[in-house]
Amino acid sequence: MKVLILGSGAREHALSYKFSLSEDIKKVYLLPGNELVKRFEDNEKIEVVDNISLKDFEKIKNFVKENKIDLTFVGPEAPLVEGIVDEFQKENLNILGPDKFAAQLEGSKAFAKNFMKRCGIPTADFYTFKSYEEAKSFLENYFDKGLFGNEKVEDFKDIYKKGFIVIKASGLASGKGVLVTNDKKEALDFLKKIMVDKIFGKSGEEVVIEKCLDGTECSFFALCDGENFVSFPTARDYKRAYDEDEGPNTGGMGGYSPNPIVDKDLKEKIIEKIIKPTLKGLKEEGHPYKGVIYLGLMITKDKEPYVLEYNVRFGDPECQILVRRVKDDFGKLFKQALNGNLPEKIEEDPRKAFCIVLASEGYPFAPCEIDLKALEGKLKSLNEKDLKDIKIFFANKKGRILSVTSLGDTFKEARDKAYKVMEKIALENTFYRKDIGKDVLEK
Ligand SMILES: Nc1ncnc2c1ncn2[C@@H]1O[C@H](COP(=O)(O)OP(=O)(O)O)[C@@H](O)[C@H]1O
Ligand SMILES: [Mg+2]
Repeated sequence: MKVLILGSGAREHALSYKFSLSEDIKKVYLLPGNELVKRFEDNEKIEVVDNISLKDFEKIKNFVKENKIDLTFVGPEAPLVEGIVDEFQKENLNILGPDKFAAQLEGSKAFAKNFMKRCGIPTADFYTFKSYEEAKSFLENYFDKGLFGNEKVEDFKDIYKKGFIVIKASGLASGKGVLVTNDKKEALDFLKKIMVDKIFGKSGEEVVIEKCLDGTECSFFALCDGENFVSFPTARDYKRAYDEDEGPNTGGMGGYSPNPIVDKDLKEKIIEKIIKPTLKGLKEEGHPYKGVIYLGLMITKDKEPYVLEYNVRFGDPECQILVRRVKDDFGKLFKQALNGNLPEKIEEDPRKAFCIVLASEGYPFAPCEIDLKALEGKLKSLNEKDLKDIKIFFANKKGRILSVTSLGDTFKEARDKAYKVMEKIALENTFYRKDIGKDVLEK
């Protein structure tokens, strides 16, 4: 069996590694992959195809036909939202992912909110607007008169944080399209940037304004076959650039699995109140969901899960962490998802997994480029003992460079192993967080 993975980050490197462990899999192509994987990954099954753009669906389909690829899997959201699955299906090529309609769960926050409302899935109360004037007067009423539409702010249920409101550009905005605020000027300025200055282009043609949920955030990942699903190991990630959650938001600086916040009881609620009705709803609307679904959740103080957002793909770095703990053969599992016959559940490695991200100085705003020769030297200095239970996933020459992932019997053991390797390979002009998983050490 030959597999094609679309995308260029460490997430896709992690997926290619996991697929390469399947005995049935002869070859895993990474398109477009990245220069670091090409240079440093010595696994013979993994091959980088860097002469085709991720945007060129025609060329991708030709590659699939010419190389007789058995299964294509998409890492990032953009190709899914642009309908790559529909394009493949027209020619009966095997691809696992949601079609263009279902991918709107991520591609249009307004669509996702209305879908949840139709299906009775718990999410914050909201309004959507296509008109700037209407959205503006809604916000003015909120800040000046204490009204959320017709409802008085003082009547909000206690799951909401009073005074705060959330404004979201409906379309894709690389994680920059959301503002949570209690300040009128800040809210109106952000709305203007989205709808008048159009800083997110078409993604800002519609906005969602919602109540602000109070609680703890967590993510949940499942693999779906149109009707049924299996849930992946739970993970926690760290979004801020610096220690103690300071500094700007990033694509993610590390994490660990399992996430103790998601206990058996909460998992059950997420499945019954969110995953099942989501799959049922999409099936009834004629677009059964196939592929990975990723819920961004707020867990309120009474332990109830609410959906902040859907994503139609794996998170990064979460994917790098959880592939280390899935025991199932990915070739087999993803084929089963495609054919609509997923097993009851995934088998999880009981060990703990860690991931520490190395980024280049200036990330996320103006990251510098690192010297690959210097990195090569560092990587060569690692011995077999250092690398026991370690796997390094590569991303870019600038920005997020690579991740060190590890397994260990305890959180402490896994964490120590990962940091030991990171200390040896972190080169000049790079940084990494030193406090990943500090909070779970006792567990
Ligand atoms: N209704 C809400 N209540 C409280 N916080 C929210 C709400 N919606 C979003 N947020 C915060 O904003 C962040 C980004 O929102 P999200 O919908 O996940 O958009 P995206 O990931 O596309 O930027 C969330 O991780 C959360 O911290
Ligand atoms: Mg999010």
